[in-house]
Amino acid sequence: MAAYHVPVMAQEISDRLLTNTSGNYLDGTLGGGGHAEFLLEKLNPSACYIAIDRDGEALAFAAQRLKRFSNVVYYQGLFSEMDAALNKARVEKLDGILLDLGVSSHQIDSDGRGFAFRPGLVLDMRMNAEDPLTAVDVLNTYTIEELTYIFRQYGEERFSGRIAREVVKRRRETEIIKSNQLMDIIQRCVPGKFLTKSYARIFQALRIEVNRELSVLKDALENSLHYLKPGGRIAVLSYHSLEDRIVKNFIRRQENPCTCPPEIPYCVCGKKPRLKKTKPALITAGAEEIKQNPRARSAKLRVGEKI
Ligand SMILES: C[S@@+](CC[C@H](N)C(=O)[O-])C[C@H]1O[C@@H](n2cnc3c(N)ncnc32)[C@H](O)[C@@H]1O
Repeated sequence: MAAYHVPVMAQEISDRLLTNTSGNYLDGTLGGGGHAEFLLEKLNPSACYIAIDRDGEALAFAAQRLKRFSNVVYYQGLFSEMDAALNKARVEKLDGILLDLGVSSHQIDSDGRGFAFRPGLVLDMRMNAEDPLTAVDVLNTYTIEELTYIFRQYGEERFSGRIAREVVKRRRETEIIKSNQLMDIIQRCVPGKFLTKSYARIFQALRIEVNRELSVLKDALENSLHYLKPGGRIAVLSYHSLEDRIVKNFIRRQENPCTCPPEIPYCVCGKKPRLKKTKPALITAGAEEIKQNPRARSAKLRVGEKI
C-alpha cells in the first residue's frame, strides 16, 4: 500500500517549533500523523499534543498510528476552532502550532474524494464528508459571475470567464458530476499547451471554495495570537502562492502593525508588534527531500514567534 502521506520538512519544523519539550502543542492538520509522530518522539510524555483534522477518516488512521502516545488529544473540526480544541484538552496556552495546509496524498489518491483530475471521479472535494457543500453543488448552482470569481481568485486562471460560461452552458444540457465532464469543459476553453496547468488551477479553485480554505486559514492565524504563549511559535507549510501570501502578509502585519501615516515621526496608533518572524523568513525543502518526495517541491515553510 502507498504511504498515507510523507511529512514534509519534518526536521526543519521540529528544530523551529519545539521550544519546550514538555509544552503544549497544537497540530491543526494531523492527516496521516507523520509530523505528529516525528514531533511526539521528541516531546516528553508530560507534553500535550492536540491533534486536529476536519477529516474523520484521517483522525482514525492517525490515532491508530499514534496509539503508543498517551499525551495526544484528538479533535475533529477546523483548525480555526482552537477554542474548542484547547477546551477539550484542558489547556489554556500553547508553545507551538503547526499547520500543514491543503490535502494529504491519501486524500488525493482516494477516488471517492474527487480531488484529482483523473477521469471518472465524482466531483466531491470535501475534506470532511459531513460538510454540506460539494464541488458538484458549486458547478451546478453558482452563477457565471460567482464561478468566474472563484476560478480567478482561487485558481488564478486566466481563462476563468470562458470556463465559467462553458460550465453554465453545459449544465443546461446535463448536470456536471464527474471529473471528465469538467476536464472536457476546460479543454474546450484553454489552448492545449496550458491544459494541465488549467486543470490543476480549476480543481484547486473548487477545492478552496468547497472547504473555505482561505477564510479558515485567516481565522486560524488570528486565533493563534490569542493562544500562543510569549516565545511560542506558529509554523505554517503552504503549497501554493495564495496561501503563502496570506501567511507572509499576516506575519509582516503582526511584526509591524503600526497604521500611523509615515509623516508622523512617532507612533500614535498604539498598535504593538505581536509576532516576529524567525529567520530565514522562508524555508524550502532540500534537494534530497524533493528527490524522495516530489510533493516537497512546492512547500514553503514560515515560522512566526509570539512576542
Ligand atoms: C497536508 S495534510 C497533513 C499531513 C500531516 N502533516 C502528516 O504528516 O501526515 C493536511 C490535512 O489537514 C486537514 N485539513 C486541511 N485543512 C484543514 C482545516 N482547515 N481544519 C482541519 N483540518 C484541515 C486535511 O483533512 C488533511 O488531512
